[in-house]
Amino acid sequence: MNWGNEARIEVPLEPPYEVVVRPDLLRDLGAHVPAGVKRLMLMFDPAVAGPVPGLVDSLRKDGFDVYLLAVPSGEAAKTIDVAAAAWQRLGEASFTRTDLIVALGGGATTDLAGFVAATWLRGTPVVHVPTTLLAMVDAAIGGKTAIDTDEGKNLVGAFHQPYAVLCDPVLLNSLPEAELISGMAEVIKAGLIADPGILDVVWSGPRETLNLSGPLLTELIRRAVAVKAEVVGEDPHESGRRAVLNYGHTFGHAIEQVEHFEWRHGDAVAVGMVFAAETAVRAGLMEPSLLGLHRELLSAVGLPTSYRPGRWDRLWPAMRRDKKNQGDVRRMVLLEDVAKPVIVRGIPEAILEEAYQAISAVPGAAPYPTADGPARPLDNPYGLPAYIPPLAGAEPDELLAGREPDELLAGREPDELLAGPEPDGPLAGREPDELLAGREPDELLAGREPDELLAGPEPDGPLDGREPDELLAGREPDGPLAGAPSFDEPPERYPWEPT
Ligand SMILES: NC(=O)c1ccc[n+]([C@@H]2O[C@H](COP(=O)([O-])OP(=O)(O)OC[C@H]3O[C@@H](n4cnc5c(N)ncnc54)[C@H](O)[C@@H]3O)[C@@H](O)[C@H]2O)c1
Repeated sequence: MNWGNEARIEVPLEPPYEVVVRPDLLRDLGAHVPAGVKRLMLMFDPAVAGPVPGLVDSLRKDGFDVYLLAVPSGEAAKTIDVAAAAWQRLGEASFTRTDLIVALGGGATTDLAGFVAATWLRGTPVVHVPTTLLAMVDAAIGGKTAIDTDEGKNLVGAFHQPYAVLCDPVLLNSLPEAELISGMAEVIKAGLIADPGILDVVWSGPRETLNLSGPLLTELIRRAVAVKAEVVGEDPHESGRRAVLNYGHTFGHAIEQVEHFEWRHGDAVAVGMVFAAETAVRAGLMEPSLLGLHRELLSAVGLPTSYRPGRWDRLWPAMRRDKKNQGDVRRMVLLEDVAKPVIVRGIPEAILEEAYQAISAVPGAAPYPTADGPARPLDNPYGLPAYIPPLAGAEPDELLAGREPDELLAGREPDELLAGPEPDGPLAGREPDELLAGREPDELLAGREPDELLAGPEPDGPLDGREPDELLAGREPDGPLAGAPSFDEPPERYPWEPT
């Protein structure tokens, strides 16, 4: 196998630390711990438990005391209960600041272990060994750590830089392809905002970049890490330049929220970058050809470039809630050109909505990616499949046929179910949950119109798995496709000043 050579990228902070990229690096973990460390606590995601016994053996042979803590896989690790369990384990083992925490897992594991390390004794050293592409090029670098709360994702956390980050591409062998592809969104983002060389590498063989035995992936990891390291080095606390790393994230976060986090982060960011490009073209900042490059590169590696229609009324409030907006949803990272990001303020909502109409009505890649793994057009990576939103033109009555009340109510919020006249009389002032207690789905649906019932979670059930062609047979592409903008015409220009 040609894995390429070891790369060492310095994150220029005080003190600096290294991100090392090399296949089979995990075997040498013992060589990358702070001087004097004798004990380490390995916090790992059970999805990557395979190499743990061998790792523990070799560390013990090297003279380390090794403690193990398996944390829940993925996002379930980022809770206060898991953090408390980790603190308890550290306490039982009498861990001090001269001991070391090691995180082995994806971004969720490195976020949790980083947070525990930041808080244990007000700061204990941590080495990250990321096991997803996204964590290698993004989450594990830069010192942002977080757990989730009932109020939202990543709301509680701290800045705590790792002692080192060890990226071993061999660990990606067990990663589902859909996760690998999702991570490519952050790689392509790094290329778009800072390193055109990344785009050249992806373009030279979009499918080959996903080949774990080929040289391209390691090269891409190295380059994307270099972008993140450089930006973080300039702005460790996210007070300025680091904002450019949020390219594609304003709209991406909104998709994640609207989809109840069933979309992978990278998939949402991919669509978010196309949204940003659509916005930039309309702002007269970006050439339409670069918008085309966004679409082609992202779909060539199997990432989605479009989002379902009819969701602006949910996306817009979600964008306004995004904590990165600093109170102004119309502040976004846009590109003037490759490697020329600008932060633009004051974008009119009408333009953002137009950009949304464009991405929900044009050819794209995978229709609806979900955590279970979407169908991806890898067999035709360069083509732009004629994507037609599957529900376009279907009549509400038709879409509801055969669906059970329970199914129609699934996932709805109490407030939404009660939408309508305010209860008065003895019900006035009572909470939605209380009002719904004991009521049957049939009763809640009585008197509702099909249109109203469909304005919510996308109808799946009987429609699930049906091909767009089948759903659309004999129908005119009206609805979301009608009047889709064409970039053959020059974009209208708006007088915004990049800041
Ligand atoms: N701190 C930051 O700067 C930062 C930046 C971006 C994202 N994040 C956070 O990172 C998290 C997302 O990271 P992620 O995409 O790595 O997700 P993740 O850690 O949830 O991993 C995704 C899935 O892959 C599994 N997995 C991980 N490595 C595997 C492997 N090698 N083989 C098989 N399965 C494996 C996990 O169990 C999980 O099911 C989110 O919580 C996000 O908030 C943090």
